[in-house]
Amino acid sequence: MRAIPGTDPPTFVCEDKAEAARAIADEIETIVRKDATPVIGLATGSTPIGAYQELVRRHNEDGLSFERTTVFNLDEFIGLPPKHPLAFRTWIRANLCAQLDLWPALIRFPDVNAPDLAAAGRAYEEEIRTAGGVDLQLLGIGRNGHIGFNEPGAALDSRTREVELHPWTREDAAPQFDGLQNVPQRAMTMGVATILDAKRLRVLAFGARKAEIVRATLEAERNAAVPSTWLRGHPDVRLYVDREAAALIET
Ligand code: GLP
Repeated sequence: MRAIPGTDPPTFVCEDKAEAARAIADEIETIVRKDATPVIGLATGSTPIGAYQELVRRHNEDGLSFERTTVFNLDEFIGLPPKHPLAFRTWIRANLCAQLDLWPALIRFPDVNAPDLAAAGRAYEEEIRTAGGVDLQLLGIGRNGHIGFNEPGAALDSRTREVELHPWTREDAAPQFDGLQNVPQRAMTMGVATILDAKRLRVLAFGARKAEIVRATLEAERNAAVPSTWLRGHPDVRLYVDREAAALIET
């Protein structure tokens, strides 16, 4: 992989997605092996799948254990029936957690079924604090710059809360849900401030459809219109892209 000098977030162009997946898995492995109580922040979406497959491989082939690890998930849709295949809880279990030796009680999500979602958001913040904070948070970037479900307009000081999904986010999810009418309108997400509290942020963006938002993440004015610009200036953030996603930032 090749670092692009002078970028913020520091940006690395990978040969392919597999190289990025290995880099992420290497860091998570180091934390999980060394730390007495590792805490990893997970993202959904198609982007982190390679990293998850690599972690599962290391668990199966190298005996990498997640017994002591707590995972906090970034976000979840509101209003889906329990066990809905597209609920992030179901997705993350199928794609990662069921294949590792995590303790079910240490797989955490914001409680979208709570009667009081504001209280549930505060409780999630408290859980993260009690766990000692997130050691490494994985992130994708939505086409509109969202991180988690912090859609355009999300403030720098936002915390875990209920949000309304942006039209592009719902459009992007529509094919999986068999139509826009089935895509939830609302979700809960860690806030921008919650995400920035993580000790390390590792952001992934792949493919030509992310090229424009990668450029904006690096070059747009740092403000709420493009939430991924809030990542700039974090003391330990890295953006891993493939060549297609780097197409508009290569000099
Ligand atoms: C989803 C998730 C985000 C994810 C993003 C990109 O809606 N809430 O956490 O980063 O959209 O998804 P993908 O990786 O499929 O492009």
